[in-house]
Amino acid sequence: MNDSGIPQEGQNRIPKGWLAFFGGMIIFVLWYVASYTPAISGWSFYKEYEKEMKASQKSSATATADPGKYLGKADAIAEGKNEFATTCAACHMADASGGIGPNLRVALKYGSTPANLLESIGKGRPNGMPPFQQQLGNEKLLKLVAYIESLRK
Ligand code: HEC
Repeated sequence: MNDSGIPQEGQNRIPKGWLAFFGGMIIFVLWYVASYTPAISGWSFYKEYEKEMKASQKSSATATADPGKYLGKADAIAEGKNEFATTCAACHMADASGGIGPNLRVALKYGSTPANLLESIGKGRPNGMPPFQQQLGNEKLLKLVAYIESLRK
């Protein structure tokens, strides 16, 4: 018997909600450890790594899948022309006839196929052509390719 007036554990039970939370945490930890332990669930960093590598290979494969995607498509050529006026004209002039950068209306040093152009624009060229892959992205590059090809017809 205790009549000191100081609350004792017997009268002061742990709240049910807290117990539920405590039990839940134990179950969560068991589940978490099991599901990320290779020997139990089969999960592994190597599998995650391979998955990511495959996904990125897929996206870069589609990037260069068809450099001629927009050839001869009037809408895309018009968009390419606008982009050219904004981004490229400073060096190549608005009509691509050349300034700091070479004339693009003639046979080109690095090749004039859609694939050659895509590489010239996307990755840049050593004597002062900057790479535009990051800045513009695939779709815009492909439209620029269509525009430049349309100049040579
Ligand atoms: C800072 C100036 C500059 C800008 C901006 C620029 N270029 Fe160039 N470009 C050059 C130079 C200089 C070369 C020549 C590089 C070389 O000979 O190695 C070149 C080369 C190229 C070539 C290859 C030509 C060949 O002879 O094979 C293509 C295609 C091209 N540019 C397209 C573009 C497009 C499209 C844009 C806009 C997205 C652009 N350039 C923006 C300066 C520029």
